[in-house]
Amino acid sequence: MNILLLGSGGREHAIAWKLAQSSLCSRLFIAPGNAGTALCGTNVSLSPLDFPALRQFVLSEDIRLVVVGPEEPLVRGIWDFFHQDTALSHVRLIGPSLEGARLEGSKAYAKIFMQENNIPTAAYREFSAGERADGIEYLRNHALPIVLKADGLAAGKGVIIANTHAEAIAEFEAMLSGKFGSAGETIVVEEFLQGIEFSVFVLTDGHDFLLLPEAKDYKRIGERDTGLNTGGMGAVSPVPFADDTLMKKVLEKIIRPTINGIQQRNITYQGFIFFGLIVVNGEPFVIEYNCRLGDPETEVVIPRIQDDLLSLLLSVHDGTLSTQRITPDTRTAATVMLVSGGYPEDYQKGKVIRGLDAVADSLVFYAGVKPSGDELLTDGGRVLAITSFADSIPEATAISNRHAELIHFDGKYFRRDIGLDLY
Ligand code: AMP
Ligand code: GLY
Repeated sequence: MNILLLGSGGREHAIAWKLAQSSLCSRLFIAPGNAGTALCGTNVSLSPLDFPALRQFVLSEDIRLVVVGPEEPLVRGIWDFFHQDTALSHVRLIGPSLEGARLEGSKAYAKIFMQENNIPTAAYREFSAGERADGIEYLRNHALPIVLKADGLAAGKGVIIANTHAEAIAEFEAMLSGKFGSAGETIVVEEFLQGIEFSVFVLTDGHDFLLLPEAKDYKRIGERDTGLNTGGMGAVSPVPFADDTLMKKVLEKIIRPTINGIQQRNITYQGFIFFGLIVVNGEPFVIEYNCRLGDPETEVVIPRIQDDLLSLLLSVHDGTLSTQRITPDTRTAATVMLVSGGYPEDYQKGKVIRGLDAVADSLVFYAGVKPSGDELLTDGGRVLAITSFADSIPEATAISNRHAELIHFDGKYFRRDIGLDLY
C-alpha cells in the first residue's frame, strides 16, 4: 500500500521511521518532509495545506492512506475535503473531521464539550470582542494567577498565565486587539490549576479506541522548567506517576466520556486524540485536547510501540480496532531536543550539523534539518531529537545527553534535566 504522510517535524520523522518498517508499506511519501523523513521514504514538495495539490498527488501515485501529522490541515478541514470527493472514496485518512478537529481548533468549543460530558477541566468563562468591559470586570475579581487562552490556533503561543490583574487585563486587551489575529477574537479565561502535567494519546475510530504509551513533555526553554514556553524540549515515556490508579481515573473520567461525547455529537473521528492532562491532588484534569500526536512526545511514544503501526492505522477504517493490541516496550524512552540558540525567540538557520556519525545506540529524529550538498544544515528552532532506551529515566536521559554533547552546530542548546523531576 502506498502512503502519504503530511508534516515536516521530528514527529513526522518518527512516524515515517515506524511506517517504513511495516511489511504492508509499499511506497511512503512525505509532504513536505525533512532530511530525516527522506531516509525513510520519498519527500514531495507539497504543502500540507494545499488540498487540491495533495488530491492530485494521491490520485497520481495511487495513495491509499493519508496520515496527517500536524493540526493545521485537520483544523482547516482536510478530512472533509477528502471525504466529499467521490474520486477519493478509496483513500483513507487518519485524522478527525472538521468538527472533531475543533476540539483543538477552538478552546471555547473544547470547554463546552467537556462541560457537556462532565469531563474534569479548569473552571472558565469565555469572552468575545463585544464583551470587553464584562471581561475586564471579571478579570479584576479573578483569583491569581489567571490563565488566558486565545480561542483559535496560535502556533502554541496563545496561552498566557498572568500573575497580576494588570498583566491579565493588558493581555486580554492585546488579544482582543488582534495580537493573535482572528485566533484571539474569543478568549477563554480559566482558573489556574497547580499540578503535574502529562500527555495521554489514543487512536480511535470514534467508537473504539486504543491507548498508546503515555509521555511527559518538557515545554519550557530553561532547566527546572523556567523561561519561555517552546514546542517541547524533551520527553519521557513511560511516566512513573501514571500508575494503574491514575490511569483508571483517566480512562473512566476523561477518555471514555470524550469518546461518548464524540458519538453523541455524531462527530466522525478516525485518528489520534492527545489529552494534555494535569494531575491535581491525585485527580486528572484536561488542560487541552489536540487532534494529532504530540511533538516531541511522538519521538518516545512511537519507538515504544512494538506493533505494526500501519496495521493499527488501517484498523481505524475497517472496523477492527477493537481486535488490536498495543504492546509497549517495557523500557524507558527519553528524548532530548537540540535547538538553535535564541529559540523560541529569534534564531539563525543554516548552521552546519556535525557529529551525527558518533551517535551509535540512540535514535536520531530530525526536526529542522535540511540537506545541502553532502552536509546537513539547521533549518528550524527545534533541530534534532535524540531518543534513547534504558531501564530507567536517568539512564535513558544520560545516553541522550551524552550524544547531544557529540553533535555540534553553532548555537546548539539542550536541556540537561529532562525527566529529572520524575526520579
Ligand atoms: P497549551 O498551549 O494549551 O498547551 O498550554 C500551554 C501550557 O499552559 C500548558 O502546558 C500548561 O502548562 C499551561 N496551562 C494551560 N492551562 C492551564 C491551567 N488552567 N492551569 C495551569 N496551567 C495551565
Ligand atoms: N508537545 C506538545 C504538543 O505537541 O502540542
